[in-house]
Amino acid sequence: MKTIIEPFRIKSVEPLTYTTPARREVLLQEAGYNLFKLRAVDVLLDLLTDSGTSAMSTEQWAAIMRGDESYAGSESFFRLKKVVQDLTGFRHVIPTHQGRAAERVLFSSLCKPGQLVPNNTHFDTTRANIEFMGAKAIDLPVGEAGYTQARFPFKGNIDVEGLEALIKREGPGRIPLVMVTVTNNSGGGQPVSLANLKAVRDVTKRYEIPFYLDACRFAENAWLIKEREPGYADKSPREIAREMFSLADGCTFSAKKDAFANIGGFLCNNDDLLAERELNLLILTEGFPTYGGLAGRDLDAIAVGLEEVLQPEYLEYRIVSTAYLGRHIADGGVPIVEPPGGHAIYIDAGLMLPHIPRHQFPGQALAVELYRHAGVRSVEIGSVMFGDAAHLELLRLAIPRRVYTQSHIDYLVEAILEVNTRKKELGGFEIVEAPPFLRHFTAKFRPAEGRS
Ligand code: F0G
Repeated sequence: MKTIIEPFRIKSVEPLTYTTPARREVLLQEAGYNLFKLRAVDVLLDLLTDSGTSAMSTEQWAAIMRGDESYAGSESFFRLKKVVQDLTGFRHVIPTHQGRAAERVLFSSLCKPGQLVPNNTHFDTTRANIEFMGAKAIDLPVGEAGYTQARFPFKGNIDVEGLEALIKREGPGRIPLVMVTVTNNSGGGQPVSLANLKAVRDVTKRYEIPFYLDACRFAENAWLIKEREPGYADKSPREIAREMFSLADGCTFSAKKDAFANIGGFLCNNDDLLAERELNLLILTEGFPTYGGLAGRDLDAIAVGLEEVLQPEYLEYRIVSTAYLGRHIADGGVPIVEPPGGHAIYIDAGLMLPHIPRHQFPGQALAVELYRHAGVRSVEIGSVMFGDAAHLELLRLAIPRRVYTQSHIDYLVEAILEVNTRKKELGGFEIVEAPPFLRHFTAKFRPAEGRS
């Protein structure tokens, strides 16, 4: 059989609520045209994020009942620790309430003001946590990543020559760690090859700089390596994931993505002294080292999710269903980041709406219109999110794991293609109010003056 199906059946359902376009117009105005400010009940298909939005499995719900809520020495922690150690090979496993907490603990322990942290592309919380320490977050994506229509298989790669040049220019002492994000979320959900990770390992070893993975979507990255990198077709996702982790000195992880959990994260490394410093910080804000801000049941749900995500049937379905959305809108004339990656399809809003200048946020304009037209919530990943650091003006359609079926995606395809037929009528936005950090969450917008 050629048809790839959802590798699960549905046991519990959550009804969707419908709104009219007229109602959505009012809601948009009330939200200051910021989709983060909508109530979720007013959204029909919620593609804002794939983070914390997964449907948990029966085994995960069963594990929730098994959770050991002891303050210290919980069995749930030891179950999680074993799964994480088997997968990553790292000695220290420090649980945190989500990925950004792992980032804060890591960067507070490693970074000093004036230092530089390179990454293929920093996610917004990663960048913000580095900059909060007074250090600078530097994006070094490969050249191909700048061209959304280029079909390079590993557009998530970091520019290794650029990395080495930076280290030589600034001196290794100024660079407390190098990070690589797998898959590269802000760069279009694109995978990083093992060859690239090996090259980063070689460079960082030579200059004695710690190398960390931001491993949120490690399993999707492993599957894309299996499909695209010569020599890996016959390896299991677990073997590939293990090889990825074996190249790094540590990782940060948000369990809200590839672990199918609704909350959680962890920080890993092999450095005893550093881990001790991190655990002291952890206790200050997250909690005791065997729960790190989570309930015991959350730790168990993560442990089970980390095993489930590596099942080949799941990963094949996941990547094929993301590509299904991508191909259908791209064939209908909507420019996407090619080729489709793991957790999301990214529309190149800059290319789709060339009449809207960057400073009027084409990605935001498209997000607003897609909600107004069809009740679909997506997120801008461009100048609203990153300001001047933005490389591209993208709209991300993130696909929650195991949540929507193919007919939901067909509805989405129809909505996007309808908006595409009248794209010239869309106008830009300007910011009315914004906070100094992570402005996309709370900024208020209004339609730009003088738009047609
Ligand atoms: N790193 C990457 C690559 C991410 O995508 C995220 C979160 C984080 C770190 C932070 O993890 O949310 O658990 O604190 N990304 C979500 C998203 C929010 O929508 O892409 P967190």
